[in-house]
Formats: sequence, structure tokens, C-alpha cells
Amino acid sequence: MTDFSRNDFGSDFIWGVSTSAYQIEGAHNKDGKGPSIWDEFTNKGKAYKKQTGNLACDFYHRYEEDIELMAKLGIKNFRFSISWSRIFPNGKGEINQKGVAFYHQVIDTCLKNNIQPWITLYHWDLPLALEKKGGWSNREIIHWFNEYASFIIKTYGDKVKKWMVLNEPLVYTGAGYFIGEHAPGYRSLNYFLKALHHTAIVQGSTPKLLRSFYSDLEIGTTFSCSHLEPITQHKKHILATERADYILNHLLIDLLSGNGYDFNKFKAIQRIQKHIQPGDLELMQGNYDFIGVQNYTREIIKHTWYIPYLKAKIISAPKRKVPHTDMNWEVYPESIYHMLKKFDALPTVKNIIITENGAAFNDTLDKDGKIRDVNRKEYFQNYLKQVLRAKKEGVNVNGYFIWSFTDNFEWAEGYRPRFGIVHVDFETQKRTVKHSGEWYSKFLTEN
Ligand code: GCO
Repeated sequence: MTDFSRNDFGSDFIWGVSTSAYQIEGAHNKDGKGPSIWDEFTNKGKAYKKQTGNLACDFYHRYEEDIELMAKLGIKNFRFSISWSRIFPNGKGEINQKGVAFYHQVIDTCLKNNIQPWITLYHWDLPLALEKKGGWSNREIIHWFNEYASFIIKTYGDKVKKWMVLNEPLVYTGAGYFIGEHAPGYRSLNYFLKALHHTAIVQGSTPKLLRSFYSDLEIGTTFSCSHLEPITQHKKHILATERADYILNHLLIDLLSGNGYDFNKFKAIQRIQKHIQPGDLELMQGNYDFIGVQNYTREIIKHTWYIPYLKAKIISAPKRKVPHTDMNWEVYPESIYHMLKKFDALPTVKNIIITENGAAFNDTLDKDGKIRDVNRKEYFQNYLKQVLRAKKEGVNVNGYFIWSFTDNFEWAEGYRPRFGIVHVDFETQKRTVKHSGEWYSKFLTEN
């Protein structure tokens, strides 16, 4: 039982589910698709147990069934992403018409089922051909992205009006080019800073570009964020938390204001200066209709000399012996409240949509074939309570998307963490709506 209903959020509030291409589509080399950095990374055995997204949820062949299931559950908004290398197998130039047709079919199936598509242009699966030229660390990416984004909007912009430019840019630049845990797997401060700078330019300049084709689009972009607290009130931990907060929660979104990097907040970033060209600050300035907030947890920060540059580390939830999910992320509903307040206060933010929130738990199939994931349902309920609290205090938050519709391929963690409200048996591809999915459906359809 909860003490709130969907109506408390207002009749215009947007409710949906979120996914991304690489995590669900499969068909990694089918019908003319070119390889992406994630195809290469996983097929080289770099993810958990050498798992790959080669098949994933086979959404490429099962999109009809999945979208119809969404409709049956009363879900009216579906966030998914486009695989760049399914459209441009070499990243640029030649176009793969079968890829183009696939997304037409997905979009048309959504519309036929009364589901609004929300499309992310870039959810981490860069065409491998472009990575071979340096990927995000090559300034040419600004032109490559421009060509890709222009084609996508010209092709689908008459039917789809809700767009997101980037998914969690700090994660793909940080984990991909600095920490090396994600594709393309580099560990280089220099690559990271270049990737970051070019990302900031793409982030700032793309909304204008998209609007030049259609003036009636609603354009957003998404950010990962976590409420941070120092492990104790000792000054060194407070300062470490401030540095981490700048990097994790502010850096990229702040750049939209056109004020550039705040070198006082994080010294190492000064090295980015050599990559900045005249006019870049204006290019980084961007105007979005909505900001996608993606929050899962809070982090506790401790000063350490061992982490270069940042001198801060996260104390994991299991170490702190607090309730956590299968990702070892603390279940801490107030985090989303604090993040909504923080983002709402930024001058660049007009309207917030929560584009991801969810939990991985080790689901078990009961003898009757049901999955009673009460923990996941309660996670959603408790986080939503905090969303409502923020909304009642005047935060301009107008939508909520669950991560994720089906269990899927969780990047370097493979298929182990299950985030879905619909269970997927990865042997048979059978879908089973979990208890949390039934709850969401009731929540959306009951008055
Ligand atoms: C991300 C992505 C999703 C993840 C989700 C759970 O933020 O990492 O947008 O692709 O699967 O956040 O980790």
C-alpha cells in the first residue's frame, strides 16, 4: 500500500520505461549493421564472464511483442536509443537502408499502440570505424555526430517529437576513456579530457541543429547523478566530496551555461585548456527543453591519496552494511529528492524528466513461474514518494521512466544484474511480467 497515487503527480505527468539499443537489440551483425565499440569490447571478452550483447533480448526481432506487452500494461511512453552503426555502418557516409527501416518499424509499432517514442541519439555504442579514428577523443566527432544527428532527425523527426541527445556523458567519457571499464577501454587522462571537451561541444550545439529541421521538437539530454555525503565531517573528506560533486553532478550540465570549466573546483581539468579553441565556449552553450535526470543511489565519499587527481573514493554500500541492490548500490530514496532540488536550482534547467531510475535484484522464479520482486516494487514506491515530495515543493519535474522494461545486457556487468520489470529468460527469450511490472501497470491504469 502506498499513500499516493498517479493522480497526485498531475494528469500531464509522463510515465514510461527506458532502454537502450545495445542492451536489448541483439542482431549485432545482421542486415548490414556495422560493429560498434561495444561489439568489439564484449567480443574480445571484456565483460562479465565474456558475455556479449550479440543477442541480448533479441529486440531486433521481438520489438512487436515487446511493444504490445508495454501497451497491454498501460505504459504510454517508451525511451529507446538508435544504434548509430545500424544506420551508418562506417559511422559516416554510406547508409544502411535496412537499419533505417528497422527504426521506422519500431516507431510505427509504438504509434499504432498509442505509445509515444522518446529517442536517445547516443547511448554509448559508437561505430567502431569512428573509434579507429580516435572516437570521442578526435575533434572530428563534432562533424560525424552532426551528420548522424541531422540524418536521424530528417528521417524520423516528422513522427517523433521527443529526443534526447546524449546518455550520461560523464560515464561514457570517464568509464570509456579514463577508467577503462567500459568500451573503448582506455585509461588515459588526456583521451578523457579530449573526449569530455568534444562531448561538451556536441551537447551544447546539437539542440540548435535539430531545431533547424523541425521547430516543434522537444529536446533533452540526460545526466547521471548521485547525492554525495562525506564519510565524516573532517575537512579533507568534505573537500573530497566537493571535488567529486563537481565532476559527478555538475561538470557537464554546468557547461551548458557557456561559462566553461571551473578550474578552481578541480585542478587536473586545467589540462583541458590546450584542447579549447576560440569559439568553443559558445558552442558548448546549449538550450534544452528538458533535462533527463538519472538517479539510482547515493555515494559516501572519503579522501584518499591513492586515486590520482580526484583524491576521493567511494565507500561501497556493502562495506557500509546498508541495504543495497545487486549493483552494490545503496537503496537510498532521498537521493532522488536531493538531486531534483539540485538540478531544479540550476539556471540551465527549465524542466526535468527522470529518464532512468530502477534497481537490480537477484530475482528468483517461484515454482508457479512467478517472480515476486517485492523489493523492486518497494524501491520504486519509495523513490516515487521522494519525487512527489520534491514536486510538491515546487520542483519542475514532469516525468518518470523506469529503468528498465525488460532485463537486459548491463554493459561490463553482463546479464547478471536484472533491472527489468519484465523478466527475460536469456535461453528461451521468454518474457514474464514480474510483480513490479504488474504493480506499475496497476499504478498507471487504476484511478
Ligand atoms: C546507464 C545507462 C543504463 C544502465 C542503467 C543501470 O546509466 O548506465 O543509461 O544503460 O543500464 O543506468 O546501470
